[in-house]
Amino acid sequence: CRIAGGTVGLVPTMGYFHAGHHSLMTRSVRDNELTMVTIFVNPLQFAPDEDLETYPRDLERDLEMCVDAGVSLVLNPTVEEMYPSPVLTTVSVSEIGAHLEGRSRPTHFDGVATVVAKLFALTGPCRAYFSEKDFQQLAIVKTMASDLSFPVEVVDCPIVREPDGVAMSSRNSYLSPQQRDAATVLYRALLAAAALVDDGETDPAAVRSAMVEALDAEPLATLDYAEVIDPSTLRVPEIIDEQVRLVISADLGPARLLDNIAAVPPQPVGTAR
Ligand code: PAJ
Repeated sequence: CRIAGGTVGLVPTMGYFHAGHHSLMTRSVRDNELTMVTIFVNPLQFAPDEDLETYPRDLERDLEMCVDAGVSLVLNPTVEEMYPSPVLTTVSVSEIGAHLEGRSRPTHFDGVATVVAKLFALTGPCRAYFSEKDFQQLAIVKTMASDLSFPVEVVDCPIVREPDGVAMSSRNSYLSPQQRDAATVLYRALLAAAALVDDGETDPAAVRSAMVEALDAEPLATLDYAEVIDPSTLRVPEIIDEQVRLVISADLGPARLLDNIAAVPPQPVGTAR
């Protein structure tokens, strides 16, 4: 493919596909001559008390979805194939991996960075498709690709949502019907906070409080974090004077859910073109 001048698209996943994964595949198939999807539930990114064993899997259905999307190759390695001997060398992510998700999952992003580095090395020059659904993961993968000089262009893709606004996630399958109804609270909290930014609120603490308040009103959900962050540094800005990202995470019964949206302050009068 490359010899003929074609480009390669890579879509790394852990399988159990939904329309969000499908959107990454169709985007890659549209942009590249050859698309490879990887399906690998990566043990390195799960802590011992997390859901590695119970993570949902359905390879047959996943392969059908790959065929439907026009994917050329699927890499579905075993754990032994990916990690043949004790793992002595890993990729370590400092700073941007330590807060938000990293606070409650301190080993998670080193595990993600290590497997993604291996997938990049196995694939070679490519475009790699990741979604904003895992906003911190996307920032870390972009930083790693640049810091370690991988010949990979990381492409950001939008979040695909259910009709009621809940971000699609393989872990939504853990929710009972009541928990699934309650899961809409994350997106509602984000929308309430984004509306404040849209109305001109410039204090990140006030915007954060709106998310916390909305989340606290749902008894089935327990907040992990809610933050207003600069989309490139992932740090809380002093003041909201340009586009920010609102990020939230909460436990709903057995599932830890994540969501985020962009929020843009109103343009001061006179700056419109
Ligand atoms: P996984 O959770 O399977 O996600 C694979 C890709 O699908 C990621 O880029 C993720 O952000 C994207 N995705 C998840 N939900 C989405 C949604 N609702 N809309 C659009 N895209 C969505 O993320 C991982 O796997 C792993 O950490 C991985 C990067 C493969 C490393 O093991």
